[in-house]
Amino acid sequence: RRGGPLPDDLAGLRVVVSAGGTREPLDPVRYLGNRSSGLQGYALAAAAVARGAEVTVIAANVALPDPAGAKVVRVGTALELREAMRAAAADAQIVVANAAVADFRPGHYAESKIKKTDEHWAPVIELVQNPHVLRELGRDRLAPGQTVVGFAAETGDESHSYLELGRRKVAAYGVDLLVVNEVGAQKVFGRSQTEGVIIGADGVESTVPPGSKRALADAVWDRVAALRRCG
Ligand code: CTP
Ligand code: CA
Repeated sequence: RRGGPLPDDLAGLRVVVSAGGTREPLDPVRYLGNRSSGLQGYALAAAAVARGAEVTVIAANVALPDPAGAKVVRVGTALELREAMRAAAADAQIVVANAAVADFRPGHYAESKIKKTDEHWAPVIELVQNPHVLRELGRDRLAPGQTVVGFAAETGDESHSYLELGRRKVAAYGVDLLVVNEVGAQKVFGRSQTEGVIIGADGVESTVPPGSKRALADAVWDRVAALRRCG
């Protein structure tokens, strides 16, 4: 977009954005977590507020000041995030899943802190898979005409580029838009700069050049607003 005054193109729309990263407890003091800061999710929320939306943020372990003008619902685990997302999505026109949801959680929660019993022993932690919140939202469309947007952090592998892996996820999750970020040790997490490609279920791909997380957020809302205009 070319700058200038922000459009009021999300006015009257209820928007849900997940942000941050889930933590899956192992015992009262330990968890499995990830490096998501919540910066991108909060930038999405702030941008949506500026464009006139009524915004609910489902915030998983975010240590940032609440985005002004948005309602914030705090969650810890993937299962809590799923419940909060589904409750908020029930009457939302747009859902954006930006949180890094743990794919796995410990199969067993130890009620008391796991202790070293002797010098050599170490626990084996069995993991179970979490439900795929975005895939469920893409399938269920909890409100009529709802637009569903996902994010995917991809690294690419021996035989596929990160973009090819992203394209597959659009179909696999049944989403309208998927924002694909290439991740690496130095990329994306906790940084203020980002970039990505927004892939539509219609096959349209737009590249978002390196810039602020707010700029990526506005590029996402541009695509969402365009989709909703075209029906
Ligand atoms: N996501 C979700 N529930 C999960 C895992 C992921 O809702 N249990 C959502 C994230 O919020 C994100 C999208 O799925 O919008 C993609 O997350 P990502 O980790 O990139 O992909 P996965 O689907 O988990 O696939 P994988 O990690 O195996 O590549
Ligand atoms: Ca994952």
